[in-house]
Amino acid sequence: DTVFVLNGPNLNLLGTREPDIYGSDTLADIEAMLGEKARELGLAIDFRQTNHEGVLVDWLHEARSVGAKAVLLNAAAYTHTSIALLDAIKAIELPVIEVHLSDPAMREGFRHLSYVGIAAVDEVKGLGPRGYAVALEKAAAL
Ligand code: DQA
Repeated sequence: DTVFVLNGPNLNLLGTREPDIYGSDTLADIEAMLGEKARELGLAIDFRQTNHEGVLVDWLHEARSVGAKAVLLNAAAYTHTSIALLDAIKAIELPVIEVHLSDPAMREGFRHLSYVGIAAVDEVKGLGPRGYAVALEKAAAL
């Protein structure tokens, strides 16, 4: 079974981006760690990042068309703005687990609304990179 792991805008800059909030691991470090976890769980991951909202929509559609088991989605700032992502999650009828490195609820008010969270089956927030592994365990248990 394959789990799509989709990452949104600015997450390509992890490692140097606001390390006080996001830590010093790069996205490549997270991908490598998650690959290990996937092997333990007997899953495959398809790990991607884009800065473009519509590309995330296309990848959600693709997850359905290839029969992915689930999607881990860190939509980054689009989490808090994108009705298009909410509609895509509803449309694909696949379990989507919302992931964030930080806990948006502990940050600025404009991060408190999550459109992704309206349709996601579960969420993992505030655990840093380890949150991706926790989310993959949740996906494996679905
Ligand atoms: C984030 C939280 C979002 O509010 C923010 O816009 C990000 C990263 C996280 O992983 O903590 O870019 O999704």
